[in-house]
Amino acid sequence: MRPLIAANWKMHGAPSWRSKPKQFRELVRRTRSPHAEFLICPPSLFLADLAKVCQPRQIAVGGQNCHQEIAGAYTGEVSAEMLKAAGADYVIVGHSERRTLFGEGDDLVLAKSIAAHAAGLTAIICVGESRVQREAGDAETVITQQISAAVPSEARAANTVIAYEPVWAIGTGLTPSNDDIENMHAHIRKLLHKRLGDEGLNMRILYGGSVKQANAKAILAIENVNGALIGGASLDMQSFAAIAASVT
Ligand code: PGA
Repeated sequence: MRPLIAANWKMHGAPSWRSKPKQFRELVRRTRSPHAEFLICPPSLFLADLAKVCQPRQIAVGGQNCHQEIAGAYTGEVSAEMLKAAGADYVIVGHSERRTLFGEGDDLVLAKSIAAHAAGLTAIICVGESRVQREAGDAETVITQQISAAVPSEARAANTVIAYEPVWAIGTGLTPSNDDIENMHAHIRKLLHKRLGDEGLNMRILYGGSVKQANAKAILAIENVNGALIGGASLDMQSFAAIAASVT
């Protein structure tokens, strides 16, 4: 399975691709590797422009969120179809910032995943436990619940990616031990297999939460880790390219 190395730029608006497009293009060119697939999820406003810069599909682009309806009176929202029309191939759904800051629950994440599939996008469905849940020994139970409630029963390996992102590891510089990552990814693999059969065996499971150049190689070598979702360390394209280079 070719790993997916995905950048989540969150609401950061002035990265180098705008101020230094030539250097950015060169980095895009260098990032291309036969060993992995690459993805950048910028703020949706920049998606169409970035898709042009990343052409011809050296790096895919994706949304960070979508609305569950195709169109309608939903001020400020963007649908999966609109992301697709702007050049997206992927969309992140259920990121922990959407869950905690915008009150999104598993039902909504499920609806957004279904909307993403209907629009022809691959949904990156995020799951992850909080620090309190991990310390209480509930991490696996929480992930089991999120997977069963948020992953559509007709999800396929070709249109769905799971991102395991412990909430306490996002943007904190903390990561679980490699053993803890391995155990959780094995648990998720088992859940996907049970729920989706062979499709679940072939579905990518990304790890996210404080991935950076220094730990990327070791994390990406863990069994059942099929890529990474990278926030902070992806904003600087040099650092994203260095992480990309650690995939062999
Ligand atoms: P981080 O963010 O790499 O800055 O921890 C990861 C994410 O939010 O997807």
